[in-house]
Amino acid sequence: MADATSAALPESLSLAGRKALVTGASRGIGRAIATTLAARGAAVAINYNSNEGPAKELQAEIEQAGGTATTVGFDVGDADAVAEGIKQVVEQLGGLDILVNNAGISIDALLMRASPESLQAILRTNLEGAFHCARVAARHLLKARSAGRIINISSVVGEQGNAGQSMYAASKAGLLGMTKSLAHELAGRGITANAVTPGFIETDMTEASVQGKARDALLAKIPLGRIGTAAEVAEAVAFLASPAAGYITGHVLRVNGGLAI
Ligand SMILES: NC(=O)c1ccc[n+]([C@@H]2O[C@H](COP(=O)([O-])OP(=O)(O)OC[C@H]3O[C@@H](n4cnc5c(N)ncnc54)[C@H](OP(=O)(O)O)[C@@H]3O)[C@@H](O)[C@H]2O)c1
Repeated sequence: MADATSAALPESLSLAGRKALVTGASRGIGRAIATTLAARGAAVAINYNSNEGPAKELQAEIEQAGGTATTVGFDVGDADAVAEGIKQVVEQLGGLDILVNNAGISIDALLMRASPESLQAILRTNLEGAFHCARVAARHLLKARSAGRIINISSVVGEQGNAGQSMYAASKAGLLGMTKSLAHELAGRGITANAVTPGFIETDMTEASVQGKARDALLAKIPLGRIGTAAEVAEAVAFLASPAAGYITGHVLRVNGGLAI
């Protein structure tokens, strides 16, 4: 994106000429990641599952700001749809250098109330979805021979666990194991794989837990004393995607206000 923001960036943080796919970028953290990567100069593919309208609006915003973006709808849990979607991304952007596995859902329930169906739904999107995307994208990252990047959005809950979130925690802890394995496997080809673990970030996903009394209880547990923003998570992702992070792989970068140290 040839605007004043990217022009002022040091080369080590610039994403000029890079091509990125962000899954689940129609809303929340994914939307902020796509916006930030585009502002750093990357051409960005905005993936969504059902919310095409907001994804198209984001594309228009990025283009209006002088950036390059495209929109691609697919369900990350559907391996065939992922293969077709990433094929489209590669055709439209002319390649792929950066994959951000951000798409995710949460279904909270205490163990006794949880159902096998809920577990399957969470694992299908959060864990299998990231696996399908990494598997297909890796071929293109290898082909590009351009310091490829895989960045997986896990969660503080994957590191620490949380009552009522055993299904979600399992998916996010699994993602950390996957990230480290990919880091081992792909390092020889110059591709890094890292994870970001956000704490509580104000988005649709956390709407219920960051209101009223629940908010006060939550704030009491966060040393920095506030809920995080999607833009703060996006900054960490943009760093891991940049040349500045070229010697970092298999890392878990916490963006949690001190909630887990
Ligand atoms: N918010 C937090 O506090 C927090 C903390 C730690 C980790 N995280 C993680 O950060 C990521 C983003 O969370 P968020 O809070 O931004 O969530 P959000 O506001 O609920 O947005 C979820 C995004 O994921 C997409 N998505 C859901 N299922 C999908 C599927 N099967 N295929 C493709 N896209 C799909 C949604 O697309 P549609 O709009 O089309 O439905 C949407 O763009 C998630 O992985 C979440 O687990 C969030």
